[in-house]
Amino acid sequence: MPRQHAMQGTGVRNARVDNLAAKRLIDANECGAQLGCNPDAIAVQLARSRHSGARQFRMNDLERFFNSHAGPLIHKWRHYFEIYDRHFARFRGGSVNIVEFGVSQGGSIQMWKDYFGPGAKVFGVDINPNCKRFEEPGVQIFIGDQADRAFLRSLATVLPPIDILIDDGGHTMKQQIATFEELFALVSPNGVYLCEDLHTSYWREFGGGYRRRGTFIEYSKAFIDGLNAWHSREPRRFGV
Ligand SMILES: C[S@@+](CC[C@H](N)C(=O)[O-])C[C@H]1O[C@@H](n2cnc3c(N)ncnc32)[C@H](O)[C@@H]1O
Repeated sequence: MPRQHAMQGTGVRNARVDNLAAKRLIDANECGAQLGCNPDAIAVQLARSRHSGARQFRMNDLERFFNSHAGPLIHKWRHYFEIYDRHFARFRGGSVNIVEFGVSQGGSIQMWKDYFGPGAKVFGVDINPNCKRFEEPGVQIFIGDQADRAFLRSLATVLPPIDILIDDGGHTMKQQIATFEELFALVSPNGVYLCEDLHTSYWREFGGGYRRRGTFIEYSKAFIDGLNAWHSREPRRFGV
């Protein structure tokens, strides 16, 4: 099962950041060995193919949609579907506000509409102005750079309270942290904040590196430290 960080309390409301990266890397490496190609290529390969690898879970509606979808490309790892369904199912059929950073070719927007139903409002955010073409009833697209805090703050003034925020944008440390810091407050108390592709926390070109200060993984770890601060015998080091 995928590993999961639950971030609660200590100034952080009830929301979750799934470490999707660990399982994704395992799949990528397995497929890389099988297909003889690198993990970057595999991201699209997995999304396009129906190859299910070592499936460990039942197919849900998201995966069913993905399998039968003939429209625009959905750029997701297959094993994400089980994780999405576990955290998102309770919002189905209601009036739910979903924000996704990273629109790309519009496929995931269609998937969310189908999964959550007619009461869903989907807000996509992308740096690529061409993504504006994916607007339709129930779908609003904002164009801007998720590393730009001024843009994120302006977004915060027009977005409604968010039930689900998915960060599937550029995946750099700067982008992930700025987006979290500027928009987490908009996520409703029982909402879900899901940041994807945390393996970039280990990639230099994304600002990552093993135990490097300022990666999203290290940033998230600080919340876990905060949760345990009460028990610390070195309170000064925790800043409490
Ligand atoms: C992995 S794709 C998104 C895939 C899409 N969510 C799906 O599932 O089909 C990443 C997207 O993030 C966008 N992006 C990259 N850097 C960005 C930034 N700084 N701000 C906003 N969007 C960015 C890219 O233009 C691209 O469309």
